[in-house]
Amino acid sequence: MAVVVLDKICKTYGNSYHAIKDLSLTIHDGEFLILVGPSGCGKSTALRMIAGLEEISSGTLSIGGQDVVDLAPKDRDIAMVFQSYALYPHMTVFDNIAFSMKLAGKTKAERTKRVHEIAKILQLESLLGNKPAQLSGGQRQRVAMGRAMVREPAAFLMDEPLSNLDAKLRVQMRAEIASLQRQLGVTTIYVTHDQTEALTMGDRVAVLKGGVLQQVDTPKALYHRPVNAFVAGFIGSPSMNLFEGRLEGMRIHLPGFSIPLSDSAFERAPGLSAFEGKALIFGVRPEDLYDSRLPSGASYPTIPVVVKSIEELGSELIVHLKIDAVRIDSGDPDAVEDLSGAANAVARFEAVSTVETGQSINLAIDPAKLHFFHPQTHMALN
Ligand SMILES: Nc1ncnc2c1ncn2[C@@H]1O[C@H](COP(=O)(O)OP(=O)(O)OP(=O)(O)O)[C@@H](O)[C@H]1O
Ligand SMILES: [Mg+2]
Repeated sequence: MAVVVLDKICKTYGNSYHAIKDLSLTIHDGEFLILVGPSGCGKSTALRMIAGLEEISSGTLSIGGQDVVDLAPKDRDIAMVFQSYALYPHMTVFDNIAFSMKLAGKTKAERTKRVHEIAKILQLESLLGNKPAQLSGGQRQRVAMGRAMVREPAAFLMDEPLSNLDAKLRVQMRAEIASLQRQLGVTTIYVTHDQTEALTMGDRVAVLKGGVLQQVDTPKALYHRPVNAFVAGFIGSPSMNLFEGRLEGMRIHLPGFSIPLSDSAFERAPGLSAFEGKALIFGVRPEDLYDSRLPSGASYPTIPVVVKSIEELGSELIVHLKIDAVRIDSGDPDAVEDLSGAANAVARFEAVSTVETGQSINLAIDPAKLHFFHPQTHMALN
């Protein structure tokens, strides 16, 4: 177990590409930290630098109080699960998992006990005699996890270890890994681009964009108090809706309508009052938009919208809407997938809603749940 400290770490690849810029981050002893961000933001690069597989261009890195910048990967006492992993093809699942224990001189009895414990967690018990070629992609990925887990390293580094699993197994494994990590108490850095994984698994989440750390916080704090429009748009699914507006009096004005604000909005965002008469960005999460014909939405102010399409999820409806407003891009390349056709907003309605595609409806909005951002810097107006 160990504290991992990154201090002003930079990575410039040979082609002078700046993949990581001044990354400072402390991962506490026993903590489960998630590193999340869109594809290409530098997550694997950061993890590989911690593992020693990628040279650090500048900055310092310590594991358990020891400066490891000049240490070879094998001397860093870490176990890593890669995005693309390689198993020993001629060995059984059992031997693949037990390999490092054998090298460490553990007895057969110790190896058997430990491998069976791990195999149980990873649901590999019935496959221990198989060779990697006889496994599915998801099963191979779990063997790769098992190989890291049998060791008792100072830190686990995991790079999208669940990416090859089907949706159901992924949800199950997510919970298993999180509870196993707590049980073992080994400092863990876990990379994913999946924000649901980020929100559900870790103690804290670090959000990276273009090699720059945006925010490190608990999942709850990231969700409720994003520092900027990027984090606001990236964390949460479907994404937060972001629009251009103008603050006048106690109202946010948009081209076709306005939304009244309460005192609480100014209390939660003290920076807001400085924007009187000015343009700003406001954000609202899909779950803070309601069907005004249902009791849940009856008491909120409404705005006119057109329903463009509906995704029936059984437990709720994801409703794509056209609002007479200018949508702001959060800078998250994955966020655009949330919108379809000419829609520019997404709402989550209760399953009992009877809205239909093509309808003009009144959309209820909870004004106490609005987020506000600076129109140029995109920083939250806190
Ligand atoms: N060896 C290399 N030489 C030059 N550029 C590289 C090299 N490896 C990665 N990059 C660039 O550095 C950036 C970060 O890459 P990295 O693999 O860390 O991204 P990532 O966040 O892990 O993405 P993904 O979610 O797709 O795995 C990318 O723009 C990539 O093209
Ligand atoms: Mg990667």
